[in-house]
Amino acid sequence: MKVCMIGTGYVGLVSGTCFAEIGHDVICVDNDEKKIEILNKGGLPIYEPGLEELIAKNVKAGRLRFTTSIREGVENSLFLFIAVGTPPKEDGEPDLSQIEQVAEEIGDAMNEYKIIIEKSTVPVQTGKWVRTVIERFSRKIKDFDVASNPEFLREGSAISDFLNPDRVVLGVESERAKDKLLELYKPMDAPKIVTDISSAELIKHASNALLSTKISFINAISVICEKSGADVLQVAEGVGLDKRIGREFLNAGVGFGGFCFPKDLSAFISIAAKLGYDFRLLREVENINNEQMLYAVKKLEGMLWNLRDKKIGVLGLAFKPNTDDMRFAPSITIIRELQRQGARIKAFDPVSMDRAKQIMPDIEYCEDAYATAKGVDAIALLTEWDVFKELDLEKIKGLMRQPVFFDGRNVFEPGKMAAMGFIYKGIGR
Ligand code: UGA
Repeated sequence: MKVCMIGTGYVGLVSGTCFAEIGHDVICVDNDEKKIEILNKGGLPIYEPGLEELIAKNVKAGRLRFTTSIREGVENSLFLFIAVGTPPKEDGEPDLSQIEQVAEEIGDAMNEYKIIIEKSTVPVQTGKWVRTVIERFSRKIKDFDVASNPEFLREGSAISDFLNPDRVVLGVESERAKDKLLELYKPMDAPKIVTDISSAELIKHASNALLSTKISFINAISVICEKSGADVLQVAEGVGLDKRIGREFLNAGVGFGGFCFPKDLSAFISIAAKLGYDFRLLREVENINNEQMLYAVKKLEGMLWNLRDKKIGVLGLAFKPNTDDMRFAPSITIIRELQRQGARIKAFDPVSMDRAKQIMPDIEYCEDAYATAKGVDAIALLTEWDVFKELDLEKIKGLMRQPVFFDGRNVFEPGKMAAMGFIYKGIGR
């Protein structure tokens, strides 16, 4: 089947490539000429394990191509997915102007019946606006469907998340769109839920909000664990074995980041407010997350006495492992606060340092964890990359000025670290 994916960010690029992988003909469109040039040369504008190879395979097979021409994509495809950015405005509401722009261009270029599908995370009722804009700008064709097909993939494991989803959600307004979309997803062996468009939009918001709530909940529990002498890992295991709750997303840490949870949470709070509901629960989830990042700084201060003129080596900058994405990374908030209090920062991340340098040019970037440890008063591990799990800790300790180790992701065992002579603190243990 013929698919056009408009927007080649994380969601668009992975979804487009995976649709090609399951046998469809895909055109990926982006108005960013540089991005399309990189993709046409076989490069990748983002870091995502396995994606470059999968793109190359499907381009070679003739199922995947890239263009800056939205008209080319629209004229040649039945399914038009909108996967452009919805960045937050100052007040937390998502900026939907890119979606409007794309809807206008689709309307203008439509040559026959099309199904226009929202893939970006959008506020409930966006579908209605997409329909209105297309109707206004389409002179010839009035026969089209709008649908919502939210995406649940995670950065770092995006390909397998897309190809083996827990569910496929299809929000439709006609039998015709429903049948076509079910056919598109036929090669995928996953439960398919067909809903109205508003419900599909809300499923996405509710899912991300509930997952963020789980993380803030366990982070709050971690504080109580510390005060009561309990171990948050044991608590999470015991709670998570209840099938109604589940163990996933109960890892305490330095808070959640990325371009989804923080943004979607504030968007959902403001959407609810607009609809006349004060979502106090989610405001508190947000507050706990902000506190959790600053709590990391307090802990370092507690271990070092004063932060002024202390050298701190940060291991891991990306908002999570297996991505180079620095957007809303907790490391940024933590490093800024440490610097505000007079600490000096050295840092290493396996893949996100180029991006980090643009945001934080004023820190010393190192070539590996050992160079980062050299001469520092403390280490702060903020992203649980696998390479950090294999570190030669004796060597690390030998390089440090003081053996102070803050493990913001509970990678190491407190007992073992203490036995090695580290002054060690994890989260909630
Ligand atoms: C998230 C959702 O998990 C996806 O289902 C969704 O499709 C995506 O947002 C989106 O809306 O596009 P993502 O942001 O890529 O995916 O990454 P997650 O694995 O969900 O992690 C988000 C943040 O939560 C990270 O900072 C991570 O370190 C943190 N986290 C996650 C925890 O602190 N504890 C946990 O137990 C799990």
